[in-house]
Amino acid sequence: MADGDVARKVRERLTQAGEGGVLRFITCGSVDDGKSTLIGRLLFDSKLLFEDQIRILKQDSKKHGTAGEEIDFALLLDGLEAEREQGITIDVAYRFFNTERRKFIVADTPGHEQYTRNMATGASTADLAIILVDARKGVLTQTKRHTYIANMMGIRHAVLAVNKMDLVGYSRAAFHEIVSDYMNIVEDLGFASVTPVPLSARYGDNIFQRADSMKWYDGPTLMEHLESVDTTMDEVLELPFRLPIQWVNRPNLDFRGFSGTIVGGRLKKGDDVCVAHSGKVATVSRIVTADSDLDQAANGDAVTIVLDREIDIARGDMLVDPKSPTEVSDQFAAEILWMTDEKMFPGRSYLLKAAGGQMTPASVTTLKHKLNVNTFEKEPGKSLDLNEIGVCTLSTSKPIAFDKYADQRETGSFILIDRFTNQTVAAGMIEFSLRRASNIHTHAMDIDKARRSELKNQKPTILWFTGLSGAGKSTVANLVERKLADNGRHTYSLDGDNVRQGLNRDLGFTDADRVENIRRIGEVAKLFVDSGMIVTCSFISPFRSERQMVRELVDEGEFVEVFVDAPLEVCIQRDPKGLYAKAKAGKIKNFTGFDSPYEAPKSPEIHINTAEVSAEDAAERVIDELAKRGLLG
Ligand code: ADX
Repeated sequence: MADGDVARKVRERLTQAGEGGVLRFITCGSVDDGKSTLIGRLLFDSKLLFEDQIRILKQDSKKHGTAGEEIDFALLLDGLEAEREQGITIDVAYRFFNTERRKFIVADTPGHEQYTRNMATGASTADLAIILVDARKGVLTQTKRHTYIANMMGIRHAVLAVNKMDLVGYSRAAFHEIVSDYMNIVEDLGFASVTPVPLSARYGDNIFQRADSMKWYDGPTLMEHLESVDTTMDEVLELPFRLPIQWVNRPNLDFRGFSGTIVGGRLKKGDDVCVAHSGKVATVSRIVTADSDLDQAANGDAVTIVLDREIDIARGDMLVDPKSPTEVSDQFAAEILWMTDEKMFPGRSYLLKAAGGQMTPASVTTLKHKLNVNTFEKEPGKSLDLNEIGVCTLSTSKPIAFDKYADQRETGSFILIDRFTNQTVAAGMIEFSLRRASNIHTHAMDIDKARRSELKNQKPTILWFTGLSGAGKSTVANLVERKLADNGRHTYSLDGDNVRQGLNRDLGFTDADRVENIRRIGEVAKLFVDSGMIVTCSFISPFRSERQMVRELVDEGEFVEVFVDAPLEVCIQRDPKGLYAKAKAGKIKNFTGFDSPYEAPKSPEIHINTAEVSAEDAAERVIDELAKRGLLG
């Protein structure tokens, strides 16, 4: 049966609500800790599998299973996993089951075990986390990492499921040792409850049924605990009202409504609401839903709000309680979980997506510290690797409306997206606002860029020369500047070797330092453009991200990328500064082209191969191209 069919049938069964409401949970474990077996067992014992599925499962278990004559429950999920590999389902599959007392939604978070991405996605909506530990292995680094992430994502209840008790002879001592290790670790994390349960997912011990093999255990079975744990979140209703606007509903001129799902608090007809960004206030005249109008609505309700007056509201805005509005800022401190192989570097520009689909370019301004997941202690660091957690300050291009994550999960979280691959690279939790954006205004000067360039009779431009060391960037840039000057243009030149003696004296050649190098140069080049100058910039600038960032700092057409291209062998042969020889001899580390990468531009405005074209001709080509673009007036 296809995954979707199972889900549908299960959902049908779930229409009979249990008195305990819904419990959302995730299971976290390392490879082979028995995660799939446990979920399979929960579905099986709650009688949610269907006859034909069970028959196939029994057959498969005999053929491929690792459980002898027993049913291998992991195969049940592996079968679904195969569909997932074909790209049928998404990263996180939600499985539904129920007992008399409660409905359960378990986020099944597969994928490469090494990646926390799926786990974090599942955790963001869960009430409880089952942290699985193999009784033979005890608490591992991965256990601590998962626990920390679960806690950081706002999960309040943890279950330490010590699995595979059968493989340690159902030893009470083994269980207690693991529990005591774990309790030491979670002590300071502030979970509302941490419940250890010794179990064997394969045999079903202490899952639905109390195990005869572990008479010494007098705590609840896993299911008893899941059925009874108190996760009532009445607090959410008491939170201030928040409605991120998903779309502005305007079917005709007589109707204008603002649609979204309430993510905190409640709302009555006649209440005042305010637009987070502008602070404009209006009164709610109608609360419309798909079925009918409501007098009031609350957290979780999908509604369309009609206001008594016309105020500017767009998608991505938020309607909030005027007495307790969100913060609106372009600078804040946050904890972030880095979820991709490509490192995070302060200064690099990402896309930030926050509550209600607010989107803005953003960068980490400072990495205050990293977290050591073994000790939960702070550690210094310059970048974040896959699965690392750091406390940072972030700065966004546009102010965003948000709450502290500790107060409000939905409005306090965000993700960072890579601008080239569109991949989600980080999950973030906002700790606090650093400054109200409204405190800083751009001072409007009487003399502006247009006036300055008019006086100079030219169009201000950044000519960005990128390429390997020895490719000829500075040589060509120098000739271009001479030609421009001879032509009466006002120019300036920024060059790697020169800038690194002054402004960027503190920077070396690690990836992180190169990112910062280009960030600063970009800001300086932008000032030159503002002053009406044509500025040549000659930097290796090895990363696409930073070149793109500089491009976006100025107006369309003001950034011209010149790829000064020469094969590495040619650069090595030229070796004007003797640096390649040194790099080869191992005397310089992180040398571009050797042990440091260079990402060639994909579509530069000008591409010159200096192995084939003389510097003089190259410079002519740049001038011609500028003229063609109308940049020389
Ligand atoms: S970038 O990568 O950050 O853009 P930048 O252009 O400022 O580099 O500086 C490169 C110049 O520094 C080179 O032309 C070379 O003279 C010198 N240099 C010294 N060490 C290195 C290194 N490890 N890698 C590259 N360039 C180096």
